[in-house]
Amino acid sequence: VVVFLLSLSLQHAHGKSGEKTDLTRQSFPPGFVFGTASSAYQVEGNALKYGRGPCIWDTFLLYPGITPDNSTANVTVDEYHRYMDDVDNMVRVGFDAYRFSISWSRIFPSGLGRINKDGVDYYHRLIDYMLAHNMTPYVVLYHYDLPQVLHDQYNGWLHTRIVRDFVRFADFCFKTYGHKVKNWFTINEPRMMANHGYGDGFFPPGRCTGCQFGGNSATEPYITAHNLLLSHAAAATQKGRIGILLDFVWYEPLTNKEEDHAAAHRAREFTLGWFLHPITYGHYPETMQNIVMQRLPNFTREQSEMVKGSADIIGINHYTTYYVSHYVNKTFMSYLNDWDVKISYERNGVPIGKQAYSNWLYVVPWGIYKAVMHVKEKYKDPIMFIGENGIDQPGNETLPGALYDSFRIEYFDQYLHEVKRAVDDGAKVTGYFAWSLLDNFEWRLGFTSKFGIVYVDRSTFTRYPKDSTHWFRKVIKTEV
Ligand code: NOJ
Repeated sequence: VVVFLLSLSLQHAHGKSGEKTDLTRQSFPPGFVFGTASSAYQVEGNALKYGRGPCIWDTFLLYPGITPDNSTANVTVDEYHRYMDDVDNMVRVGFDAYRFSISWSRIFPSGLGRINKDGVDYYHRLIDYMLAHNMTPYVVLYHYDLPQVLHDQYNGWLHTRIVRDFVRFADFCFKTYGHKVKNWFTINEPRMMANHGYGDGFFPPGRCTGCQFGGNSATEPYITAHNLLLSHAAAATQKGRIGILLDFVWYEPLTNKEEDHAAAHRAREFTLGWFLHPITYGHYPETMQNIVMQRLPNFTREQSEMVKGSADIIGINHYTTYYVSHYVNKTFMSYLNDWDVKISYERNGVPIGKQAYSNWLYVVPWGIYKAVMHVKEKYKDPIMFIGENGIDQPGNETLPGALYDSFRIEYFDQYLHEVKRAVDDGAKVTGYFAWSLLDNFEWRLGFTSKFGIVYVDRSTFTRYPKDSTHWFRKVIKTEV
């Protein structure tokens, strides 16, 4: 069956979908890095094994109904044991780099103090195997998975104590793996944690105004973001070259009205600007200061100096674009209501783009061009890379249909063309990471959403490359 499926998929790949692109490595500047991205919690599995301590997602998933398929990430795709297969697959495609994250509670099961040797060794094995196969590690220190004890002890990201603990964890990783790893990133998508963890309660610790775990959506997202920024900056000062990963939806004004342009501006400031403005200029965007006022924490002069210039490279995680218009909703005070915007997915009845499986993801290739050019123009032309880009194709979720992912190929083809256009127009984009190599644990969507270019049969853990794998191979393989 396996051979049959593979040959089917290969035949298909050699047909139309694998050939229609004109992109090659030469379309991008020399040294441009192609990779895939993942995170510890989403792929490792063995969540409660080999000495790892629980993180806030383990606890959150104990509540029934958190994921539509009632899945947990206890096993997920078992990369902990199958990392060699996964690196081998990356090598076959021709990728240069793999972006993964280190599970804090696998290294320090209690957040700090006692070190779990099994965990430390696992990342040595993974990194060594990658290096032996010329796969460059891009290592992220934090991807949504706070050790549960730190939340229990002092409310985790809500408390300034987290800064000290994060720095200790970061320092340990720099000392332990620093001679092998040259590309470090502190935190992935801090906004997602501030917003979903404390603004709408969608992610753990599930706090918001009216949420069952308590919270205050008007203040806690801002406090959390502040501590995330300070943690990033404090860790970054310990290390030479280091970056951060920021999610950035492109917000396009719905109409040409002045007020809709202002709304789109606010949406960008309240998302990307919230983090990138302090990192570039040492303070929060004026727009946010004027709206949030005393609910927005202040940086001391010392902190401002530390945060300013704290990233040598900016990873932009970009998937989609929305229309925004001016809209005031003051039913209650919250981070999201502070924006005074309404998001929409169509203009005059015309959808902004085709919809993915995820209801938040629309295919709008020009959005990535605008997003990248915005970062270039507004934030002092930084060195950046696309830290994530990808799609969960709707339909055909089982074998063999899942392998024929022409919708995904089309997405990658169109988005990469737009990245190239931005590079040609002078943006310093130095690499591109597809999300993700494997279908994996997609947070609140469990395993129902599949972003991989490789399908995983979770009863056997066998990996089946999809057509998009062959497409990438065609684009990036350097033939000798
Ligand atoms: C952003 C996150 O970094 C990643 O964990 C997630 O799976 C993808 N986007 C897709 O939603």
